[in-house]
Formats: sequence, structure tokens, C-alpha cells
Amino acid sequence: MNHDVYISPSVLSADLTKLTDDVEKVVSGGADWIHVDVMDGHFVPNLTFGAGLVAALKRITDLPLDVHLMVERPEWYIAPFADAGASVFTFHPETTAHVQRQLDQVRACGMLAGLALNPGTPLSYAEEVIDDLDLLLIMTVNPGFPAQRYIETVTGKVARARALLDARGSSARLEVDGGIARNTIAAARGAGADTFVAGSAIFGSDDPTSEVGELRKLCHTAV
Ligand code: DX5
Ligand code: ZN
Repeated sequence: MNHDVYISPSVLSADLTKLTDDVEKVVSGGADWIHVDVMDGHFVPNLTFGAGLVAALKRITDLPLDVHLMVERPEWYIAPFADAGASVFTFHPETTAHVQRQLDQVRACGMLAGLALNPGTPLSYAEEVIDDLDLLLIMTVNPGFPAQRYIETVTGKVARARALLDARGSSARLEVDGGIARNTIAAARGAGADTFVAGSAIFGSDDPTSEVGELRKLCHTAV
């Protein structure tokens, strides 16, 4: 399944005092989704946003909001994020006892259901629930912080994820997150990813608007 490339800028690296401006910049650069990193200080050693930020973003942009939950007990947050206007709800399998039930619940609430795998988490977690997935997120860093280095060995896992989705006839999007920048995006695209989260590479650049297009262009150089 060959999806068009989606670029999903992460507002974790935006200037929160100028969130509206920063979001408008990437929207005018052609961003497809806006990525929202939700961290609880337990599953990952950092604290960030809740459903309130999603509701605020919803008033700023019509783009789908791609919410990435790095929290324990994601089931507590499915309805609140759906009500706030999230379009994609992605969580990690280690954070809940009943992964399939929660994926089902996410879809029942009208959102796309995503499962995120840390670099050390086996792909087999996704294999068991592949028909319940609208998106598979392969983490290319250990989550928690922006501006970390892309872990090159994960490129092989992205390729295995692509092969798995194709073999099972899944049309789920294959997203990568962490360290995606000009020097890494083509490798991830070449391995079969179609959805690219980028935080510091976009909002840390001099021109976030054109950076969205630059990253997209580099995807087309992938072999
Ligand atoms: C990592 C988060 C990412 C983060 C990516 O813990 O899940 O979405 O914002 O930031 P960059 O693109 O700077 O690595
Ligand atoms: Zn993320």
C-alpha cells in the first residue's frame, strides 16, 4: 500500500507563546497533520499537554490532530481527546492491559487508532492487532524529549513493519517519530514509512513554512 507522504509537525517544539503563529506557518507550508505529544511523567520522564491543548489547536486549525499518548492507562483519555477534537489517537502497548479493546474503543469514538512501538519493543505487538490498526508508529528515538538523535538501527524495523503491513493487506499508515530531519527522512521513507513526525527540525529551523516542503521533497529522493 503506497500512501502519499504526510508531514506531521510536532508542536512540542513550537514556541508556546506564539502557538497560533507557529501552527499557521506549518499549515501554510503544506503540513498534513499536527502532532501533539502527550506525556505523563510515568511512562516517559517528561510532562506535556492534555486534551485542553487539543481543543485549543482545534480552534486554530482545520488540520487533523495526530495525538501521541505517552501515558499509562490511555483508556482514561480516549473519550476526552475525542471530545476535544483529536483525529488520530496513538498509544503504546506497554501502557494498558487490553490493547485490542482500547484500539476498538478509539475507533468507536471516531478516531483513527494507532499503536506506537519504542525502539526496543518487538513488532509482534502490532502483528497481533494488525486488523485493528489505522496507524502503526515506529519510534525512531526513545520517547520523552524532542531533538534526540535518530536511531539508525530502527530503519530496519521500519522496513519489517512495511513488509508486515503489506503481507497482511493492511492499509494502516506507517509513521515514524523522533530525529526526523533532512539527513534522516529519506532513509525512513526508503524503508517504507509514509507519515513523518518532525518537531525540532521544523520549528527549530529559520523558516518552518519552507522546511515542511523541504522534508517532503527529500522523501521523493528516497530509493
Ligand atoms: C518524542 C516525541 C516526538 C518529538 C519529536 O518523544 O514523541 O514526537 O516531538 O521531536 P524531534 O522531531 O525533535 O525528534
Ligand atoms: Zn510523538
